[in-house]
Amino acid sequence: MINEMKWWQKAVGYQIYPASFYDTNGDGVGDLLGIIAKLDYLQDLGIDLIWVCPFFKSPRDDNGYDISDYFSVDPVFGQTSDMKKLLDEAHKRNIKVIFDFVLNHTSDEHPWFIESRSNEDNPKRDFYIWRKGTIAKDGKRLPPNNWRGFFSDSAWAYDHLTDSYYMKIFSKKMPDLNWENKVVRNAIFEVAKFYLDLGVDGFRLDAIAHLARDTSFAQSTLPTESDGTVLDYKKFSNLPKMFDYLKEFKQEVLSKYDCVTVGEVGGGVSPEESLLYSGYDKGSINMVFNFDTAWENGAYASEGKTDDEIRTNVKNMKHNFRRWFEGCYQKSWLPLYWDNHDHPRVLSQYGSIHYREASAKMLAMVLLFMYGTPFIFNGEEIGMSNVVYENLDDFKDVSDQNFIKEGRHRFSSDLAMAKYLQRTSRTNGHAPMQWSDERNAGFTTGTPWLKMNPNYLLVNVKTQKEDPNSILNFYKKALKIRKKPEILHLVTQTRFELIDANHEDIFSYHHFAGNEGLLVIANFRDYEVKFTTEHLKDIKEVLLANYDDLIINETTIELPPFGAVLLKVSK
Ligand code: GLC
Ligand code: CA
Repeated sequence: MINEMKWWQKAVGYQIYPASFYDTNGDGVGDLLGIIAKLDYLQDLGIDLIWVCPFFKSPRDDNGYDISDYFSVDPVFGQTSDMKKLLDEAHKRNIKVIFDFVLNHTSDEHPWFIESRSNEDNPKRDFYIWRKGTIAKDGKRLPPNNWRGFFSDSAWAYDHLTDSYYMKIFSKKMPDLNWENKVVRNAIFEVAKFYLDLGVDGFRLDAIAHLARDTSFAQSTLPTESDGTVLDYKKFSNLPKMFDYLKEFKQEVLSKYDCVTVGEVGGGVSPEESLLYSGYDKGSINMVFNFDTAWENGAYASEGKTDDEIRTNVKNMKHNFRRWFEGCYQKSWLPLYWDNHDHPRVLSQYGSIHYREASAKMLAMVLLFMYGTPFIFNGEEIGMSNVVYENLDDFKDVSDQNFIKEGRHRFSSDLAMAKYLQRTSRTNGHAPMQWSDERNAGFTTGTPWLKMNPNYLLVNVKTQKEDPNSILNFYKKALKIRKKPEILHLVTQTRFELIDANHEDIFSYHHFAGNEGLLVIANFRDYEVKFTTEHLKDIKEVLLANYDDLIINETTIELPPFGAVLLKVSK
């Protein structure tokens, strides 16, 4: 059965945020040669697929998600020829590579947009979405409608050159492409072909849910924020036309290559709807990242709360994983992740810095044996945690800076706001990778573009390589186990079933093929929890555990803080 599986169903993915991975020329920013330098490290870890976040020419308003030239590498990341070098060097090590493909928008410095904005008759005018605004009674200029984007402001930006607004659901330097226009679609497909012909193994498709918009551009009737705008997913997420666009993409490009596509699907998609994207029969892409499993620790509603008052909702989290499994098993494939560059660090969210080792290992065990292709975010494998910046300027990310501008008055002080961002901001995931206990964690010999987390003296790759019991070595062990044919079969081919699904503290699940099974039991609390299941009578082998001295009594296990086990069982 495993033989019939696609390579990407057996793979273990690893996400790289290039600016923060490894700097080879001392300018303080990671680069493509830096990724190449660490390929041996990734191979040794057991990675066979890397997803590289954007490194194309860009003013880097959103760290490269704002592309001004799809065909060139941004000088800060290296030379354009490094792109091919990266593919070749990775392939030599049996590591596949997917690029992050940003196709919902470009940079406002892309030549298409420069032409498009220049005048209303320009042939590229229709590459983007332009509308006239209105003038309010008090003389204030108003955007075409009340839609809000994802970065804390209107989905429209004003351009004085033609006295018009362009749509932009992210920053104002990221104008949305007009996918209604077949010339635009063709131009984007050409970009995809260029990468595929170069040898890339597929794409992570950025913000894919938003390509089609409600072209009536009618006001949203949802209640608005104080600035009069409202984020109304229905206006530009998962709309029927978008599925036509993806079909076309598949027919004209993707189907001609052995490539994998993982779509980033926000906007509240359900597992059933996701089949329209990635279902084996009607889908056009191979998997979709959903957001449902990433929000359950209460950090986002934690304004004014102490750390102790924030508690992971283990039950909801489990139910979300189960809902996606049930909706997709045998119908589509799933990517699995705890962390990415749009989230705070999972160790600080679902784990604990006070139990770094135990909780990082526990999280690894839970994620790596579920149904799907896991993606580890750089630094997760050594237990990197959230930043401790107290100065709002250190949260450099554009969405953070917009949030700060818009929301500062809601917090009692800047420090209180910084504390909130320490819990919730995606800047947490952008702090540079911690390679050693040397200066700047060995990430750069220069000044890092973003402040290092001072905990690198303790938390770093070099120290963990030398320690057989480290988080890093635990990941290595876990990945080796996952790759054993009989385990991979259980994980990827058989049902994922929760045990005691409503338990408030423990995440436990199993897979069975006949009488042989795999069982995970994991404590998400920073205190001991006892857990009872009949399966404990059938233990054949303890495959992995994050404590040496776990106590199992007949059908009950005593799990210390963040304790977890992976067991082989036989009925
Ligand atoms: C996706 C990316 C995010 C980026 C946005 C705009 O959500 O993951 O980092 O800001 O798209 O490209
Ligand atoms: Ca550099």
